[in-house]
Amino acid sequence: MKVGIVGAGMVGSSAGYALAVMGLASSVVLVDQNHDLAVAQAEDIAHAVPFLSSTIVEAADYVGLAGASVIILAAGVSQKPGESRLALLERNAAVFKDVVGNVLAVAPDAILLIASNPVDIMTQITQRISGLPANRVIGSGTILDTARFRSLLGRHLGISPQSVHAYVLGEHGDSEVLAWSNAKVGSLSLADIAAQVGSPITEHVRATIDDGVRNAAYKIIKGKGATYYGIGAGLARIIKAIAQDQHDVLTVSCVTPEIVGVKDVALSIPRVVGAQGIETDLMPDLVSAERDGLEKSARLLKDSVESIRL
Ligand code: LAC
Repeated sequence: MKVGIVGAGMVGSSAGYALAVMGLASSVVLVDQNHDLAVAQAEDIAHAVPFLSSTIVEAADYVGLAGASVIILAAGVSQKPGESRLALLERNAAVFKDVVGNVLAVAPDAILLIASNPVDIMTQITQRISGLPANRVIGSGTILDTARFRSLLGRHLGISPQSVHAYVLGEHGDSEVLAWSNAKVGSLSLADIAAQVGSPITEHVRATIDDGVRNAAYKIIKGKGATYYGIGAGLARIIKAIAQDQHDVLTVSCVTPEIVGVKDVALSIPRVVGAQGIETDLMPDLVSAERDGLEKSARLLKDSVESIRL
């Protein structure tokens, strides 16, 4: 599979590196308005390939994206310390007005995978500009938040995050909802597993894990200026589901006709992802507080996308 990446900054290049490490793509093409940056990132990743896979990694102009099955859109600005993801909207929407048209001109059949923040709104903007079917315009959404949730739960319980099934829903951002009520380990409820392993999930534990998920990016950005390895691997994980037609359940963002009473909004819920993109939406059972939080998140995103004039 050929994968294109528009935006050769830290997120785009980390995704390219993850694809090379995992050997998920036969070729990866990096495009950036700063062509020298794209060339340097491609060469650096290409020098890792002999140790890892046989992926061909190159830099190109937009024409080099022809034939790509999936194109990651990671162009634009990223959060500065203390800056919310929503604060990036005006600047990144302006960038995408050019990027989306340039991509479609050379790769009209590609699935578009959006990484630029605020990712849910950028996903809806991309779907609107491109006119592509919603299931082929996928935002990374809360795939990374879900991984953070599972990782912190697993650490508390002494269990691999691979065996923890828990989801983060809604905005990839401050209003996201951690779906505690239907989190499971294997087929056991959280309460059952916590009792059996002797690691009760107290209010303090819940608050600590919530903070660790919801504010992870702010803390990392404060320490090193940006996040990129986590989202890079998350993008590669979504591409794995597409490349291998895995029909995996992933919390990704996509324009959804209606959710918790809000119409036509992009946000994350568990969805089945395969070769054709998103195949099925799966709405989990939620307790009222979670449902209310998801509705609040959906309305926030809906209001924000309506504030943008395309
Ligand atoms: C983060 C960025 C990708 O959460 O929004 O790390």
